[in-house]
Amino acid sequence: MSENNKKDGAGAVIPQQAAAPAHRAKSSESSEVLLRVQGLQKHFPIRKGVLQRQVGAVKAVDGIDFEVRKGETLGVVGESGCGKSTMGRVITRLQDPTGGTIEFEGRDITRLSASKMRPMRRDIQMIFQDPYGSLNPRHTIGSIVSAPFRLQNVEPEGGVKKEVQRLLELVGLSPEHYNRYPHEFSGGQRQRIGIARALALKPKLVVADEPVSALDVSIQAQVVNLMDDLQSELGLTYVIIAHDLSVVRHVSDRIAVMYLGKIVELADRTSLYEAPMHPYTKALMSAVPVPDPKRRGAKSERILLRGDVPSPIAPPSGCRFHTRCWKATQVCKTTEPPLIELRPGQRVACHHPENAPDQAPQDVVLLSAAREAVELVSGVESAEVSGTAPAELAAEDEAAATEEAATEAPAKAEAATEEAPVEEAAATEETGTASDSAGAEADRQESTDK
Ligand SMILES: Nc1ncnc2c1ncn2[C@@H]1O[C@H](COP(=O)(O)OP(=O)(O)OP(=O)(O)O)[C@@H](O)[C@H]1O
Ligand code: SF4
Ligand SMILES: [Mg+2]
Repeated sequence: MSENNKKDGAGAVIPQQAAAPAHRAKSSESSEVLLRVQGLQKHFPIRKGVLQRQVGAVKAVDGIDFEVRKGETLGVVGESGCGKSTMGRVITRLQDPTGGTIEFEGRDITRLSASKMRPMRRDIQMIFQDPYGSLNPRHTIGSIVSAPFRLQNVEPEGGVKKEVQRLLELVGLSPEHYNRYPHEFSGGQRQRIGIARALALKPKLVVADEPVSALDVSIQAQVVNLMDDLQSELGLTYVIIAHDLSVVRHVSDRIAVMYLGKIVELADRTSLYEAPMHPYTKALMSAVPVPDPKRRGAKSERILLRGDVPSPIAPPSGCRFHTRCWKATQVCKTTEPPLIELRPGQRVACHHPENAPDQAPQDVVLLSAAREAVELVSGVESAEVSGTAPAELAAEDEAAATEEAATEAPAKAEAATEEAPVEEAAATEETGTASDSAGAEADRQESTDK
């Protein structure tokens, strides 16, 4: 992996970027679509009172459209709490969507029952962020990596043990690790074990939720490179979720930027970095001088994501980003911008995009929030990896928003919502696969329904 820094078209320094690997040319407009998501929603209900009436909802994912093409890597970025993990769990059907459709290989899997989903689980796997929590400490590595074979009643050629040892080698571990326990391994090695387990059944789609963010920076590149090599070797398709734009840039063919449950920009990697159109994308890239005619002359300004991430329980009207956007005008407050293709392969949801014609040129008066969104930092060139800093700033607010949701949703609502990820993690630990956690969740739902 090359560690060269690379300047984006607007002059921002994106540190620690690698040059594009040669095989990146693989994704093209004509590539076959593996996964198509339309109007996808996931709302977590908030219930109150003895009757548990629904009084609101956490709109974690609120109407998103995208497709993933065979063999490509789609990166998904955004601040903490914008719905990335929820999107990942819904597209792998670990959670049921509230609305919209999910098509896998042209087949609608949106409402497939747990039993009908079971065979599909061979094709769709998930890698989780926490390599410590996702492996059952009481099970040997052999038992963890062979769980998918047991659960799917698959007998690999040459036997399970041989195949598991081959998988361990494939992810850079020793076949002799078969009888060892997770506590004997480092974080990076555990994530390799998680990857071996996810790849056991030769899935077509792997959704990796922040696969390296719990690892030491020195180990992150190794695991990312491993995933990259395995993709070429096994013809995998990835959806990789990350806060860190530098990680996503290295591994992605296309990148979707999420903000408060919506995709605000979706573009191929080069366009996104060289000519980002959404003000939020630009803000994520941080330290970017503002080339906006409305602000011409303000040479030394850079964009800072100020203020709180609004609550997904009551997102702002119009464009959800208008409370923090330095370009926001009245139309932004009243009218939600649709996600449209303004350049081939680059979709954006913005009335006043960068690097593209203004979609609402008559609306020129900035909102007061916009005037406060930019901080003067004359002469300072920051090389901070954007996405990380704003996300960290937002983390506390997000925790508060989550707490708020939890307080407002006592008893049953909590069971239906807040506990879900915990139970999912527990189920995953028990069985050793994401697939089974979905099964457990579905079973649980069925028994609740009865
Ligand atoms: N089971 C749940 N019940 C209620 N609210 C939830 C549940 N899961 C997630 N949320 C809320 O949905 C929103 C999106 O959460 P999600 O975990 O998908 O965000 P994220 O982008 O993955 O954040 P992070 O970067 O911190 O992982 C948050 O406000 C979160 O509190
Ligand atoms: S629509 Fe308006 S508020 Fe939203 S990102 Fe674009 S300029 Fe900013
Ligand atoms: Mg997450």
